Amino acid sequence: MNGNLTNKVAVITGASSGIGRATAMLFADSGAKVVVVCRHPEKGIETVKRIEANHGQASLVLGDVAQDSQVQRLVKKTVAQYGGLDILVNNAGIYQEGDVLNLTEADWQSVLATNLTGVFLCMKHCIAEMIKGGGGVIVNVSSEAGLVGIKNQVAYNVSKSGVIALSKSTALDFAADNIRVNCICPGRVLTPLVEEVIAGSQDPVATRRNLSEDRPLMRMGAPEEIAAAILFLASDDAPYTLGAVLAVDGGYTVP
Ligand SMILES: NC(=O)c1ccc[n+]([C@@H]2O[C@H](COP(=O)([O-])OP(=O)(O)OC[C@H]3O[C@@H](n4cnc5c(N)ncnc54)[C@H](O)[C@@H]3O)[C@@H](O)[C@H]2O)c1
Repeated sequence: MNGNLTNKVAVITGASSGIGRATAMLFADSGAKVVVVCRHPEKGIETVKRIEANHGQASLVLGDVAQDSQVQRLVKKTVAQYGGLDILVNNAGIYQEGDVLNLTEADWQSVLATNLTGVFLCMKHCIAEMIKGGGGVIVNVSSEAGLVGIKNQVAYNVSKSGVIALSKSTALDFAADNIRVNCICPGRVLTPLVEEVIAGSQDPVATRRNLSEDRPLMRMGAPEEIAAAILFLASDDAPYTLGAVLAVDGGYTVP
């Protein structure tokens, strides 16, 4: 087991923050040429700078994963720069609270567009290139909210369940093309996404405690702990793992 990604070209969406940035840094440390995909140049440049400071290789491609033309453009740029691509990590995601009564249709559409359609579009255009190159590996980032129902987050729940189904289906469709698709379901991880939820709550101190202590391991995860599991699935350490759904959630979804 060494998680070696030497000379692999890895496209990581949402790599300007949280789990995506931790994954980009770990992949670069493991030898990959990392394509940092995000919408905000400043934060993306910061990820690239951190990788280069560690003597890794990375480049930034701006793009919204929910827009087909932008996904096509980012794949084209990657292929033009590196000659192909080996790994795709579909990590970009957004969170929105709400149940079916109080969630607007616009918010519903927006969550599904990024969290589900974005994964579909990135797989669609990357798989076409992977086939040309003889194969590849995809890791899709779902959530514990994809495995169990959670109150007041209906759009997020549905989008993340969809990512699991999309991963299994695509794993079967492209196994014969030497493309391994797997899915990871992080539990609560202390990233800017979660910090935002805590800060926006009525009692941030109590919310932070509640969000930590609702699971067997009694704490939130670190982005690096999720990145390590993504590296395992993306590397040659997991050659026989296909269509798997790996929970990394401090035991939250243990039946
Ligand atoms: N933090 C958690 O507790 C947690 C738990 C389970 C699953 N997840 C999932 O992990 C992934 C990363 O979450 P995080 O906590 O690191 O969040 P984060 O907000 O820190 O990072 C998300 C990244 O995705 C980018 N992004 C959002 N929409 C995009 C779009 N349309 N196109 C391109 N980039 C876009 C953001 O700019 C940001 O860089 C998400 O898919 C999230 O749903 C997070």
